[in-house]
Amino acid sequence: MAISISLTVNGKPVTADIDPRTLLVEFLRTRLGLTGTHVGCDTGQCGACTVHVDGQAIKSCTVLAVQAQGVAVTTIEGLASADGTMHPMQAAFKECHGLQCGFCTPGMVMSAIDLVERHPKASEQTIRDELEGNLCRCTGYHNIVKAVQQGAAAMGK
Ligand code: FES
Ligand code: FES
Repeated sequence: MAISISLTVNGKPVTADIDPRTLLVEFLRTRLGLTGTHVGCDTGQCGACTVHVDGQAIKSCTVLAVQAQGVAVTTIEGLASADGTMHPMQAAFKECHGLQCGFCTPGMVMSAIDLVERHPKASEQTIRDELEGNLCRCTGYHNIVKAVQQGAAAMGK
C-alpha cells in the first residue's frame, strides 16, 4: 500500500506516493535523484547520510520518509546559491583540504553547519566532540576541524 507524502526539499515542494517502509535517505537518492546524500552504513553510525530537517542535522537512514511529512529537508545539493556560489562551509572544506575521497564530505558539511549554529565560537574540542557521529576513513580529521573553524568564521559564528 502506497502512502502519499508532501514535503519541501531544497526549497521546492515535493509530493510522492511511497512504500511506507521507505527510508528518507532512499527517497532522496532514488526518487529525487539527490545522490549527494551518501549511504555508508545504513545503521546510523557513519553520518554520511546527514541532511537537515527543519534546520537540524539528522541521519536520514534512521528516519522513514513518511516521518518527513510536512517538513523542510535540505540536502548538500541545496546549500549553494542559485548562481553556484558554494556555501561558506563548503568553500572552507575545499580551501582547507578537509576531504580526500569525499565520501563523508556531504554529511560532514551538513553536520558542521548545524554544529556551528548550535555552538557559536566552538572550541576545537567541541568540534571534535560534535563530529563524533560522522566517520571519515581518509583524513585523520585534522583538516576537517580546520575547515569547520574557517567555515564558522565565514558564517559569522
Ligand atoms: S548511512 Fe546513515 S549513518 Fe551511515
Ligand atoms: S574523505 Fe574519505 S571518508 Fe572522509
